[in-house]
Amino acid sequence: MKTSRAIIFFALLLTSSTAQDPAQFVNPLVGTKDGGHVFSGATLPWGSVKAGADSSSPDGLAGYVSDGTPIFGFSSLHDDGTGGGYSLGNFPLLPLTSTECAGNDLTKCALTRSLRAIEHGDPTTSPGYFGIPLNNGVNTEITVTQHTALYRFTYQAGTDQLLLLLEVTGDLGQSFQGIGQVMVASNPTTKGTRVTGSGSFIPSFGQSKYQVFFCADTSIPFVQAKYYENLEYTDVNQTTFDKDIQRAPAGLLMGFAPGTEHILSVRMGVSWTSTVKACAYAEQEIPDISAFDTVHTAARAKWNEVLGTVEVDATGVSDDSQQLFWTSLYRTYISPTNITGDNPLWSNSTEPYWDSFYCIWDTFRVIHPLYAITAPTAQAEVIRALIDIYRHTGFLPDCRMSLDKGFTQGGSNADSLLADSFVKGIAAGIDWQTGFEAILKDAQVEGDWEVEGRGGIASRDKYGYIPVGDYADDPPSNAGHTRSASRLLEYAYNDFSIALVAQGLNLTLNATHFFYKSSDWFNLWNFNASNTGFAGFIQPRNADGSWFFDSRFDRNGVFRPDHCSPVFGHLDCFLGGGGEFYEASSWEYSWYVPQDMASLVQAMGGADTFSARLDTFFSAGFHDMGDEPGFLPTYLYNYVGQPVKTVDRVDATLAQYYNTSFNGLPGNDDSGAMGAYAVWTHLGFYPVGGQDTYLLSRPHFPKITIRNEATGAVATIIASGLSDQNKYIQSATLDGQSYTKNWLSHKFFSKGGTLTLVMGSSKSSAWGTREEDLPMSLSTGGFGCNTCISPTNLRGPTTSNITDSNNTAGGGSGAGGDNGSSGSGHSSGRSIMHRLTTLPSLVTLSLLLVSLIL
Ligand SMILES: *[C@@H]1O[C@H](CO)[C@@H](O)[C@H](O)[C@H]1NC(C)=O
Ligand SMILES: *[C@@H]1O[C@H](CO)[C@@H](O)[C@H](O)[C@H]1NC(C)=O
Ligand SMILES: *[C@@H]1O[C@H](CO)[C@@H](O)[C@H](O)[C@H]1NC(C)=O
Ligand SMILES: *[C@@H]1O[C@H](CO)[C@@H](O)[C@H](O)[C@H]1NC(C)=O
Ligand SMILES: *[C@@H]1O[C@H](CO)[C@@H](O)[C@H](O)[C@H]1NC(C)=O
Ligand SMILES: *[C@@H]1O[C@H](CO)[C@@H](O)[C@H](O)[C@H]1NC(C)=O
Ligand SMILES: *[C@@H]1O[C@H](CO)[C@@H](O)[C@H](O)[C@H]1NC(C)=O
Ligand SMILES: *[C@@H]1O[C@H](CO)[C@@H](O)[C@H](O)[C@H]1NC(C)=O
Ligand SMILES: *[C@@H]1O[C@H](CO)[C@@H](O)[C@H](O)[C@H]1NC(C)=O
Ligand SMILES: *[C@@H]1O[C@H](CO)[C@@H](O)[C@H](O)[C@H]1NC(C)=O
Repeated sequence: MKTSRAIIFFALLLTSSTAQDPAQFVNPLVGTKDGGHVFSGATLPWGSVKAGADSSSPDGLAGYVSDGTPIFGFSSLHDDGTGGGYSLGNFPLLPLTSTECAGNDLTKCALTRSLRAIEHGDPTTSPGYFGIPLNNGVNTEITVTQHTALYRFTYQAGTDQLLLLLEVTGDLGQSFQGIGQVMVASNPTTKGTRVTGSGSFIPSFGQSKYQVFFCADTSIPFVQAKYYENLEYTDVNQTTFDKDIQRAPAGLLMGFAPGTEHILSVRMGVSWTSTVKACAYAEQEIPDISAFDTVHTAARAKWNEVLGTVEVDATGVSDDSQQLFWTSLYRTYISPTNITGDNPLWSNSTEPYWDSFYCIWDTFRVIHPLYAITAPTAQAEVIRALIDIYRHTGFLPDCRMSLDKGFTQGGSNADSLLADSFVKGIAAGIDWQTGFEAILKDAQVEGDWEVEGRGGIASRDKYGYIPVGDYADDPPSNAGHTRSASRLLEYAYNDFSIALVAQGLNLTLNATHFFYKSSDWFNLWNFNASNTGFAGFIQPRNADGSWFFDSRFDRNGVFRPDHCSPVFGHLDCFLGGGGEFYEASSWEYSWYVPQDMASLVQAMGGADTFSARLDTFFSAGFHDMGDEPGFLPTYLYNYVGQPVKTVDRVDATLAQYYNTSFNGLPGNDDSGAMGAYAVWTHLGFYPVGGQDTYLLSRPHFPKITIRNEATGAVATIIASGLSDQNKYIQSATLDGQSYTKNWLSHKFFSKGGTLTLVMGSSKSSAWGTREEDLPMSLSTGGFGCNTCISPTNLRGPTTSNITDSNNTAGGGSGAGGDNGSSGSGHSSGRSIMHRLTTLPSLVTLSLLLVSLIL
């Protein structure tokens, strides 16, 4: 009796801690190996400070790597999951012993990264905490507040002096640019030593330089210290030392008396504005340097609060699955960073400032739509910060980090990020008029598109697409502007986003104009390009209207839509690689018409062909899950009324590419974007980023509640009868009414409600299969566009005879028979415009007039 009561009590404890402590399921080390570049150290949600270990690994873009390489420092700033260069990692600390500094002589310490790097044991990590035993006997623990890291170094008993390195000029990329400074003083409040300083560095994926400041307080004063610069040593006098740093490497070596506990704590405040601010943050946020456990408890509580807007009933769900879900959700909140109040660039603005948008190309699809339902307050601040960046820099960013402009990857996808929030009614404090002005400018004014806005605006106006080489004029003036095909698809979708915002602001003419422009993806649709039995692909085009063939791999007039896919190689498809598709193939980009999938289905030859083509896309290895364009295709069966196939495909994708191992990610986490796919798949629906559509698949929990912390509304999803076999929706009700659509609208999350899904094993359920159950498309009257018509209808019959089982373009003859310059037979690419004039109808004429006027 006693025993069973104890067991029941224990079980109750477990259950309640599950509800209140999702942090227990978070494993920050997932994605720290094989290119995930996940930041695994201590941070708060959107924390300015991200403190962790820095490994001597080529993979160490975010600091620590689970590959056994030794650690050369612990630093307080990092980015998460990036694919650019080594990011941040400024002002590293490293606890040393007489092993690294013979005889405790500070002039004899191993200083260079390779010499000083220390082997270590396994780290222990959880939200807000990182601990690791170094082989020199020092156990290092880290916890954080918003702008301050707290390090606790526990040296071995018997250590006669606690030694510490602080490299002021250090960062992961070894990019020190001068303008360095370091000052040492005693701190009467903490009775320890205070080191303040700053340096100037280069951002990892952007332009220009950035300067950043720190304020480090030690828990005890040093007994000896030396400043080193370029291998020269200077004695440091605590009351007088103040130095401008000329050359790297430079920093301080300090020795502390061991005391009884052999513990040295270091509190490091970091600011983007000044050392004064860095010290103020440190003092306000962590008044007691020795209160490590208090700070750690508060950090974990903050994580549980932010994670806790989602609650799941995990009955029957494996621990592994729960770990994958919560760990992935955790990572969606690491970046961007909220550095409101610490932006020196426009310090008198009263708007929020967020940084580390790295990059919006990655995150607009999955991260910001997630915030729209789980963290709308943060999302509203993100939008306000982006609009304020527009106010002060003239453009919305695609990438922005370390206060600098970052490189644009493809489209002006901030347009779609903003539209996503707009259509979901996120409004708190947001000046949407200025937001509209910002996205309109992207479409109309070309700046330095390597870092802002769009490229090829004039070309696109002239040709209806962006020609290879992006020649707006004759002779060409701006060669080398690559990614012409993938950018056109993205710009078309970005225009659709602008249309949605215009529509919501009652700017009807503007909406019509941009809805219309969103159809020009079709100008790069080559019906004659074929591959592996399917015809019709997005193909780059020359300014003269001919299809472009890339001499590097398109042979004998055969376009290779599989180029940039995993089976045909990827290397020149990254930034700077010179290709016409960015980080995905034509096979993959040819699915990217989320504004009008109905037209795409038509262009591909109808629902059956579309579905079979998706099957081949996955089975033949053209799908690339390692980059974000690979997400949406896994859900596209919904657009042809085959939600059962979506479930199978999404489940297979999750099983194949995601797990809770160190390498359990298909690619760079990209500020949590890769992980966000796992979050959405567990929730059972997926956002079409930029519009009010969530495609349903199936939940992985029998019950999920999502609390909208802005409105208080609660959306509950019940998957009744869910099991490994019963994973297909047989029927559904929304607030008691039958619900047959295979997609959801945001109202469910903003207003709340209960969606009950009846799960079963039958794959022949009629649920979600009918025409009226399909997600919205422009050409079938979706998105409130009455004037929108399918570009494929304008074109006439869409089928093309596929006679080539061996990849030849254009049915083995015809277009592309030579080097493709005869192409489509159009002398100009303004094909939609051209067709409009030849197919006069009231609708087309009015559209044409509108487009001419605007
Ligand atoms: C440090 O400077 C102070 C004030 O100038 C002086 O009194 C003290 O002797 C110096 N200490 C050392 C170790 O040089
Ligand atoms: C902020 O400062 C700049 C000049 O430094 C000034 O032009 C601008 O009007 C100020 N804005 C506000 C809101 O005070
Ligand atoms: C962002 O930081 C500001 C200033 O510290 C704070 O007021 C705001 O609540 C933060 N936003 C979120 C979403 O935490
Ligand atoms: C747009 O017009 C509708 C209907 O007249 C009105 O309810 C709504 O407030 C208007 N929206 C804006 C942003 O002006
Ligand atoms: C937007 O609409 C206004 C009229 O309402 C018009 O003056 C302006 O040129 C339009 N701009 C675009 C880009 O459609
Ligand atoms: C985990 O996922 C990674 C990346 O997809 C894969 O390489 C690895 O084999 C998987 N590990 C396990 C144990 O399934
Ligand atoms: C396509 O095939 C149909 C019948 O299979 C044939 O009538 C038509 O001429 C073919 N078109 C072309 C362009 O080859
Ligand atoms: C493959 O294409 C070439 C033309 O490029 C043609 O001569 C050959 O007959 C085709 N082979 C098959 C099996 O269709
Ligand atoms: C190939 O295309 C170029 C233009 O891109 C053209 O000048 C040339 O004549 C074409 N070659 C053949 C054999 O048609
Ligand atoms: C496709 O090829 C046929 C000849 O086989 C040609 O008449 C047609 O113009 C081509 N269409 C396109 C879009 O290239």
